[in-house]
Amino acid sequence: MDDGGAQDVVSELEGRGLGGWGLLQIAGCTGLAAYSVWALVLMPGFRKVPLKLQVPYVPASAKQVKNVLTLLTGRAGKMADLGSGDGRIVLAAARRGFHPAVGYELNPWLVRLAYLYAWRAGYHQRVTYLREDLWKVKLHDCDNVSVFLAPSVLSLLENKMLAELPSDARVVAGRFPLPTWVPSDIIGEGVDRAWAYDIRSVRQAVKTEEPGTEV
Ligand SMILES: C[S@@+](CC[C@H](N)C(=O)[O-])C[C@H]1O[C@@H](n2cnc3c(N)ncnc32)[C@H](O)[C@@H]1O
Repeated sequence: MDDGGAQDVVSELEGRGLGGWGLLQIAGCTGLAAYSVWALVLMPGFRKVPLKLQVPYVPASAKQVKNVLTLLTGRAGKMADLGSGDGRIVLAAARRGFHPAVGYELNPWLVRLAYLYAWRAGYHQRVTYLREDLWKVKLHDCDNVSVFLAPSVLSLLENKMLAELPSDARVVAGRFPLPTWVPSDIIGEGVDRAWAYDIRSVRQAVKTEEPGTEV
């Protein structure tokens, strides 16, 4: 609608006696509708997750998925995507032979969608999508992990992964690097960049930095 059209609508509403109050009601209803979509479709299941740990759904691009798998070349075992969205990274990992390939995702709509995509690809028996809070998942058996999350949660996630992952695990972070870990490998440019971290090296670095430890 051009400016003239919008002006006409406003004038017509004012002509009908809606005035400022009517416009305020329309704005309120629009806001409520937007909130409902957010609460019911985009963020259901997040009620028990503290606000500062809530990460919205932004799917990885094809390039980002490719970069994750390139950084996992030559590896095997369990692959887990923490916050798996529509399952695209898990599905790609299963196609590369990772087994089990598991996605942890709180949003039930995305879990269903992920199974639909896997079923369409003929991989529904080779992937698992669990409707679980990633902060409550135990990571002791994860050989390979991918995280496409927000910078605000990455520091806390570093602590969790450092405490729980096996020594030979590799973590691939997409979009944002982990804040204090030193990557073993980096691939891609701009938003497609991905960082790989080997837990053994990360633990070694942390030990070296501990006060009283000789370098
Ligand atoms: C930025 S999206 C990434 C989706 C997917 N990994 C990809 O790259 O296409 C982050 C996803 O994490 C999910 N998520 C956020 N917090 C979560 C939590 N505490 N437990 C499980 N899933 C979570 C969101 O619902 C969202 O689908």
